[in-house]
Amino acid sequence: MKPKILVTRKLSDTAEEKLKKDFDVTLNPKDEPIPNNELIKMANEYDGFISTGFDKIGEEFFKDLNGKLKIIAQVGVGYDNISIKSAEDKNIKVTNTPNVLNEAVAETTILLILAASRRIGEAYNLVRSGTWKDQKPDLTKFMIGNSVTGKTLGIIGMGRIGRMAAKCAKAFGMKIIYYNRNKLSSDLEDGAKYFSDIESMMPECDFVSIHTPATAETKHILNKATINLLPKHAVVINTSRGSTIDDDALIEALQNNKIYAAGLDVFNNEPNLDARYMKLDNCFVLPHVGSATHETRLAMSMMAVDNIFCFFENKPLISEVV
Ligand code: DGY
Repeated sequence: MKPKILVTRKLSDTAEEKLKKDFDVTLNPKDEPIPNNELIKMANEYDGFISTGFDKIGEEFFKDLNGKLKIIAQVGVGYDNISIKSAEDKNIKVTNTPNVLNEAVAETTILLILAASRRIGEAYNLVRSGTWKDQKPDLTKFMIGNSVTGKTLGIIGMGRIGRMAAKCAKAFGMKIIYYNRNKLSSDLEDGAKYFSDIESMMPECDFVSIHTPATAETKHILNKATINLLPKHAVVINTSRGSTIDDDALIEALQNNKIYAAGLDVFNNEPNLDARYMKLDNCFVLPHVGSATHETRLAMSMMAVDNIFCFFENKPLISEVV
């Protein structure tokens, strides 16, 4: 009998076709989110899940498992929606999709740096709303933003994505500084300057960009105290997870022009982000599209599918979390 696999959201066609060859697959062609209680009920009917960050696979999910479910292959590098400790306790393997999205998320980081510093949200809305013609373009005031070229980018979390963002930022002559749990080898640092504490790095940042996973350690890593250390012209960028930012602190800093701007792709409580962000001209917001390219989503889907193949063929997993 073929192992039964549940694919919780629509994957790329190529990945779904590959999976169907060797497994008894339940797909989600209409991409309807599966309610949490349904997902818990389904868990005992499948040998494997292909999940996404939208699925809540917390402690509750694992409580009444009967041993059938053996692997959860997450489509995403982040897996903060999964209780890793519970998976470990139940001897369930978890895999993710690292590396294949480095470029796409780095592209989004640069997009946010440019959009936030050059006031692209305001400029775009002006044209789309038909009110450009009513403006009196003024050489010193009309949509004037801040340059990016030659500025200092502080990276919080110099992992694979942080390093790719640094590499792209260098094309703009940006100077890279970083805060990380550990100092990297000079090879990986590639000229970036290390700060062992975030407090000393913040005053040096023209831009600060978060690239850490969501953990207890990184929760509200940008908070009132750390944001207050940024220069008044600084721009905050986030493509990691919303939990790394204390919304009250960032919104207060943006409202009172304690910093220049923010560019955010991720939020606490997505998609119900704090409504105050949408009222701020100096905040450029995106709907969590960091890895949203055809190429990247295909590579992520294929990696999750390949992890399922490896598991059931007793081969080493490509990207094992536990
Ligand atoms: C990830 O891979 O964790 C991304 O946030 C998904 O887009």
